[in-house]
Amino acid sequence: MSGLTSRHIISMDDLTAADITTVLDTAESFKEVNERRIKKLPTLRGRTIINLFLEPSTRTRTSFEIAAKRLSADAINMTGSASATVKGESLRDTAKTLSAMACDLIVVRHAYAGAPQVLTECMDAHVINGGDGRHQHPTQALLDLFTIRQHAGRLAGLRVGIVGDICHSRVAGSLVPALRTVGATPVLIAPPTLLPARPDVLGAEVAPSLDEALPELDVVYLLRVQMERAAGMPFPSLREYARFWGMNEARLSSARPELLVMHPGPMNRGVEISSAVADSPRAIVLDQVNAGVAVRMAVMYLLLGGEGGGAAA
Ligand code: CP
Repeated sequence: MSGLTSRHIISMDDLTAADITTVLDTAESFKEVNERRIKKLPTLRGRTIINLFLEPSTRTRTSFEIAAKRLSADAINMTGSASATVKGESLRDTAKTLSAMACDLIVVRHAYAGAPQVLTECMDAHVINGGDGRHQHPTQALLDLFTIRQHAGRLAGLRVGIVGDICHSRVAGSLVPALRTVGATPVLIAPPTLLPARPDVLGAEVAPSLDEALPELDVVYLLRVQMERAAGMPFPSLREYARFWGMNEARLSSARPELLVMHPGPMNRGVEISSAVADSPRAIVLDQVNAGVAVRMAVMYLLLGGEGGGAAA
């Protein structure tokens, strides 16, 4: 049983508009728990949650672990270097092995798009995609929506500029459909070499430059330039990238006073975002991190049978 439409969260396709509202509203009550001195609820006592992270992570892995522990679940962390995958065990055999230990929910991060889907085919556990290759990172999109709603008071009607390495980005892969589902407008802003081949298929607007788009934006969402996924730099230099596509103080002066500056982390300071902007009051990057715990508590609670509303009573 799940408090959401689907029993897994692999992509934003698994979540209806009503599901998204349920997650965000449930996360509100868990955020309040996270502000208490004792940040713990008995809600998932006796449930077992495995974090299988076969790619590096700071924010996602840690926040899922904290979220599981705050709900009193037994949380087990596995990383690539500490698992039998380094001895050549296949993902399917790893999944079947963990399934035989009767885990209730698994969070997986993997370099290959589609790996979380494979787990759904060979495990009884609920599966949450913690980021798969260039495909999707749905809980990042949910925490981003939560953070925007907290600051702007709404989601529908907002214009959100997504800037940078869109074609390599699983964050953009989830954020674009998430924004569309809640009635916001995603605007893609990138050098042509970092745009997907058919941006129209995503249902997003495309702006020719950051300078042209910025005055009309409610949110500017800067993506990390992902050197590890690009075969060579797809632009002449980091300096040129920063000059044309980076968010800096000069550009802030042409934006709306209420513009929100977001970044999923980890940031390349001086490339997609200057230190002055990253450390300015406009940047809500650490609010995104904070929201990550509450949102991940909400999705685990809802997938494991909880219902929206009154979750933290
Ligand atoms: N935003 C994000 O996924 O960060 P990590 O790689 O640190 O988990």
